[in-house]
Amino acid sequence: MESYQSAKEEIKRAADIVELIGQHIQLKRAGQNHIGLCPFHSEKDPSFTVSPARQMFHCFGCKKGGDIFAFWMEYHKVPFSQALRDLADRYQVPLPNKRLTRSEKGKMELKESLFKINEAAAGYFHDTLTRSEKGAQGREYLDKRFISGEIISEFLLGYAPDEWDGLTQFFKRKSIDTDKAVQAGLIIPKKNGGYYDRFRGRVLFPILNLRKQIAGFGGRVLNDSLPKYLNTPETPIFHKGELLYGLHSSYKPIRENGRSVIVEGYTDVLALKRHGFHEAVATLGTALTRDHIRKLKGYAKEAVVVFDSDAAGRLAVIKSISFFLNEGLSSRVMVLPEREDPDSFINKNGLDGFLDLLNQAIPTFDFYLDQKLAYVANGIEGQIDILKEILPVLLELDNVAQRSFYVRRLSEKMSIPESVLLTELRKWEVNHSLRGDKSSLRDKLSSSRAKNIDDQYLLNLFIHYPHTMDTLMNHGCKVLLSDSVIMGIFDYMYDIYTREGETKPSDILERLQEDTARERFREAMMSPPICPDEKVDQAVKEFEEKIQKLKLAESIKRAKEKGDIDALNQILKSKSNRQR
Ligand code: GTP
Ligand code: MN
Repeated sequence: MESYQSAKEEIKRAADIVELIGQHIQLKRAGQNHIGLCPFHSEKDPSFTVSPARQMFHCFGCKKGGDIFAFWMEYHKVPFSQALRDLADRYQVPLPNKRLTRSEKGKMELKESLFKINEAAAGYFHDTLTRSEKGAQGREYLDKRFISGEIISEFLLGYAPDEWDGLTQFFKRKSIDTDKAVQAGLIIPKKNGGYYDRFRGRVLFPILNLRKQIAGFGGRVLNDSLPKYLNTPETPIFHKGELLYGLHSSYKPIRENGRSVIVEGYTDVLALKRHGFHEAVATLGTALTRDHIRKLKGYAKEAVVVFDSDAAGRLAVIKSISFFLNEGLSSRVMVLPEREDPDSFINKNGLDGFLDLLNQAIPTFDFYLDQKLAYVANGIEGQIDILKEILPVLLELDNVAQRSFYVRRLSEKMSIPESVLLTELRKWEVNHSLRGDKSSLRDKLSSSRAKNIDDQYLLNLFIHYPHTMDTLMNHGCKVLLSDSVIMGIFDYMYDIYTREGETKPSDILERLQEDTARERFREAMMSPPICPDEKVDQAVKEFEEKIQKLKLAESIKRAKEKGDIDALNQILKSKSNRQR
């Protein structure tokens, strides 16, 4: 335990939180801190704050926060033990052998072993493709598709021979646990005992996560049989809605150029790569999810969606629009000529041709409007139908400037006066907020229900100027509080101060047990001091007076209630004495 704590400290010393988080999220400097868009909830204005001085992050929106370990756990969705190992690895800090709870250990070991099995399988597929007699067909196929040897080795492409148990036999030779291999989705139990391979006669595309571990596979047939692609099923480590093919390799160029291109196919990513375009990622044959976009916006300022110009492709773009709007990631749509995909297009037209088209990509909202206007019947009925669909989308924009921009655009495109649209929009908004959406209204009300200012102020004061705590607690400053969480924090802090002397806020934070208490405390730590240095004494004095007044008012009230005239006189006398 001791040495494990010290490894944690050592990692914290070696790491810089701004640098670490900066590799996952775009941060920009804001005074002493760095800010960016929170990866843990959707927002358009940055409230995610990283403090180099405190080596902490905190989101003023969703209240998530903590140190590098907290970030890693939340971002990569791993338990603490895994975060510790990942970061120890990253900063080359040796770890003592640590004891985990049984269920923690079980889950982690399972995931770890699934990654290992995938890695073994990828090795087998890759060797088969590049070295074996049995891989000839795969080699031929990739060759035909202009996928070079370099790409094959960089992306660890492989081939599953066209037989029932190639991988099963390989696992047997390597004494790999068949039960785990089943859980990895690589082999399937037969009804009458034994196993068979999921992937047979397919070229395989390993799908890596951001930690560069193989989470699963996509496999393509070599002919026209169906299904054309087969993926690993959902497993504890393979979640299609969160993974983007190629991101492990493209995130750096995406960050550098601020742009990402979302395509549909594995082969599209690879073809673009071969032609020198490194900013592409692909979904895994599923619709774009909010998780995808959230992940991407950590690296990209803009996403360009390249979808097939067929009806399904158009529909996919239309479905994704509200995600982009809500996540505040600006997006455009690149339209390819009929029957082309990025792979075939760039092989015909080269990088320049592709870049030309990319530069002509149009904002997603315009694309959406054009689609709607083109496919809905003309005339008043048609217009009403369109508005019924578009207004709710517009309502999802909480950025007012953006909303009015799109209203103007809509007005131009539909030749409807802006004022009419605005009235309609308002009507929708009213209906919308009356129907259903009470929860957000409740949120708004509860957050604006004036949190007691003194609570916040005092906590901020005590954290930034610990010496003030003693005086004010002795005066009984808790009478000023209305928030029981903050009362609890004060007791705890004061207790530590009196027993151990002034203690660093970060140490107190570590020791706070309760989540809400930690949130409040962290938020105050990450906020700048409300009171400037030279005003601290004055602030303390003002609080003292406020406490006195409050106490006095209390005792007057109590004396009156009891009808205790003597006590009342006593109080009033001492009050006038003090005022003199
Ligand atoms: P190629 O024909 O090899 O160039 O593939 P493509 O990527 O151009 O194919 P397509 O546009 O048909 O599909 C795009 C993506 O959708 C693929 O990369 C797969 O991820 C997914 N996909 C396509 N067909 C299937 C299928 O039959 N099953 C599943 N699960 N996914 C598919
Ligand atoms: Mn294709």
